[in-house]
Amino acid sequence: MATSPFRYFISLFLLLLCFEPCLRVGDAKTGCIERERQALLHFKQGVVDDYGLLSSWGNAEDKRDCCKWRGVECNNQTGHLIRLDLHAPLDGMGFPQSLTGKISQLGPSLAELQHLKHLNLSRNHFGGILPTQLGNLSNLQSLDLGHNHGDMSCENLDWLSHLPLLTHLDLRRVNLGKAIHWPQAINKMPSLTELFLSHTQLPPIIPTISISHINSSTSLAVLDLSSNGLTSSIYPWLFNFSSSLVHLDLSMNDLNGSIPDAFGNMTTLAYLDLSGNGLGGSIPDAFGDMTTLAYLDLSSNELPGSIPDAFGDMTTLAHLDLHSNHLNGAIPDAFGDMTTLAYLDLSSNELRGSIPDAFGDMTTLAYLDLSGNELRGSIPDAFGDMTTLSHLDLHSNHLNGAIPDAFGDMTTLAYLDLSGNGLGGSIPDAFGDMTTLAYLDLSSNELRGSIPDAFGDMTTLAYLDLSWNELRGSIPDAFGNMTSLAYVELSLNQLEVINLWKS
Ligand SMILES: *[C@@H]1O[C@H](CO)[C@@H](O)[C@H](O)[C@H]1NC(C)=O
Ligand SMILES: *[C@@H]1O[C@H](CO)[C@@H](O)[C@H](O)[C@H]1NC(C)=O
Ligand SMILES: *[C@@H]1O[C@H](CO)[C@@H](O)[C@H](O)[C@H]1NC(C)=O
Ligand SMILES: *[C@@H]1O[C@H](CO)[C@@H](O)[C@H](O)[C@H]1NC(C)=O
Ligand SMILES: *[C@@H]1O[C@H](CO)[C@@H](O)[C@H](O)[C@H]1NC(C)=O
Ligand SMILES: *[C@@H]1O[C@H](CO)[C@@H](O)[C@H](O)[C@H]1NC(C)=O
Ligand SMILES: *[C@@H]1O[C@H](CO)[C@@H](O)[C@H](O)[C@H]1NC(C)=O
Ligand SMILES: *[C@@H]1O[C@H](CO)[C@@H](O)[C@H](O)[C@H]1NC(C)=O
Repeated sequence: MATSPFRYFISLFLLLLCFEPCLRVGDAKTGCIERERQALLHFKQGVVDDYGLLSSWGNAEDKRDCCKWRGVECNNQTGHLIRLDLHAPLDGMGFPQSLTGKISQLGPSLAELQHLKHLNLSRNHFGGILPTQLGNLSNLQSLDLGHNHGDMSCENLDWLSHLPLLTHLDLRRVNLGKAIHWPQAINKMPSLTELFLSHTQLPPIIPTISISHINSSTSLAVLDLSSNGLTSSIYPWLFNFSSSLVHLDLSMNDLNGSIPDAFGNMTTLAYLDLSGNGLGGSIPDAFGDMTTLAYLDLSSNELPGSIPDAFGDMTTLAHLDLHSNHLNGAIPDAFGDMTTLAYLDLSSNELRGSIPDAFGDMTTLAYLDLSGNELRGSIPDAFGDMTTLSHLDLHSNHLNGAIPDAFGDMTTLAYLDLSGNGLGGSIPDAFGDMTTLAYLDLSSNELRGSIPDAFGDMTTLAYLDLSWNELRGSIPDAFGNMTSLAYVELSLNQLEVINLWKS
C-alpha cells in the first residue's frame, strides 16, 4: 500500500521521460507518425470518395502504416509525411476521378502535416474558401491546387509569404477575383520559379509603383497568367522579372496599346504568348534582340503595319504565329534566314505582294499557313525544296499561274489547301508522287485539262475537293485505287458523268 503512490510516480516519470522517444520507437515499427496519421484520417472524413481512391487509408491492423497509403510519401529516416499527392487520376475516357469536399474544412487537417514538401490536390472537386492555414506548411516546395472544379476561391494571397521554400505554385481556376494585392504577395516569394494563375479572374494591377523603382527579381522562370482580365498596367511589375523569365503566357487578357520595346530586354525568354489581346501598334523591331526565343504567338490581336525584317534575326525561333491581325505589306525575304522555324502561321491578315522564293530556304518548316491574305503572283518553284513540310495552306489569296511540278518533291505533305485562288493550267502529274497526302483541296480556281491518272497513286488521300474549276474529260479509272478516299467533291466542272464505283 505504502509503495503504491511512489510506484505510480515512477511510472508517470518514466512515461513522461520516454514519451517522445518511445513514440518514435513505435513509429519506426509502423513507419508513420501517429499525429499525422490522425490528420489524414480526419482529412478522409471530410471528403466524398466516390471512386474509392482512399480505400488504403484506414484504421484496420493491416493499414497501420500511413506511409504506405495511396498518395502518401514519408521521409524514411524521420517517418514524417513529406508528400501528399491526391491529384485526381483520369479514367479511360479522360475524365478525372475526383474527390469532393470543402477545402475550408480540410485546411486544419492539412495544416497538421508540418513537414510536407509537396502537396498536390489538382483536378479534384474541392470548393469553398482556400484556408490561409496552408501558410503554416512552411516546408512546402510545391503546391498544386489547379483545375479543381468546385468553385474554390481565395481573397487574399498574403499567406504565401510564409512559404519561403515554395518553388512551384499552381492555382489555375481558383477564383482570385478579390485578391487585389496578388503582385505584392508574389514579390514576397523568394524561391518561386513556376507560377500558374490562368483562369483565376485575376484583377488588373492597380498602378501605384513607378517603373523607375524596378529591380529584377531573380527566380521566376515560368509565368502563366493567361485567360484573366489583365491590362497593360501589368508591365511595370512584369518587367521586374526580365532577367529570369523563360516562359511567359499572357494570352487571352485585355492588354492594349503597343507592345513595349522592353520585351526585347527579356534575354532569357524562350516562350512568349500574347495572343488573344487587343494589342495594336506595329510589332517592335526589338523582337529581333530576343535571340533565345523559340515560341512566339501574337495572333488574334489588332496589330497593323508590316512584319519587321528584324524577325530574320530570331534564329532560334521554331514556332511563329501572327494570324488574325491587320498586318499588311509584303512578307519579308528575311524569313529565309529563320532556318529553325518549324511552324509559321500568317493567315487572316492583309499581306500583299508575292510569296518570297526565300521560303525554299526554310528547310525545317513543317507547318505553313498563309491563307486569307491578299498574296499575288505564282507559287514559287522553291516550295519543292521544303522537304519537311506536312501542312500547307494557301487558300483565299489571289495566287495565279500554274501549280508547280515541284510539288511532287514535297513527299512529306499530308495537308494541301490551294482553294479560292486564281490558279490555272492543268493539275500536274507530279501529284502522284505525293504519296503521304491525306487532304487535298484545289477547289475554286481556274484549273483546266483532265484529272491526271496519277491520282490513283495517292493511296493515302482521304479528302479530295476539285469543285468550282474548269476540268474536263472523264474521271480516271485510277480513282478506284484511291482506297482511303472518304470524301470527294468534283461538282461544278465540265466532267463527263460516269459511274465512279463500278462493281
Ligand atoms: C531513403 O530515402 C533516400 C532518398 O529518398 C534514398 O536515397 C534511400 O535509399 C532511402 N533509404 C532507405 C533505407 O530506403
Ligand atoms: C500534380 O498532379 C498533376 C496530375 O494531375 C500533374 O500534372 C502535376 O504536375 C502535379 N503537380 C506537381 C506540382 O507535381
Ligand atoms: C497556423 O497558424 C496560425 C497563425 O498563423 C495559428 O493560429 C494556427 O494555430 C496554426 N495552425 C497550426 C495547425 O499550426
Ligand atoms: C534596386 O537596386 C538598387 C541597386 O542595386 C538599390 O539601391 C535599390 O534600393 C533597389 N530598389 C528596390 C526597390 O529594391
Ligand atoms: C520588383 O521586385 C522587387 C523585389 O522583389 C519589389 O520590391 C518591387 O516592388 C518590384 N517592383 C514592382 C513594380 O512590382
Ligand atoms: C486601353 O484600355 C484602357 C482601359 O482598360 C483605356 O483607358 C485606354 O485608352 C486604352 N488604350 C488604347 C491605346 O487603346
Ligand atoms: C533595356 O535594358 C537596357 C539596359 O539595362 C536599358 O538601358 C533600356 O532602357 C532597356 N529598354 C527598355 C525598353 O526597357
Ligand atoms: C491500280 O493498282 C494496281 C496495283 O497497284 C495496278 O495494277 C492497276 O493498274 C491500277 N489501276 C489503275 C486504273 O491505275
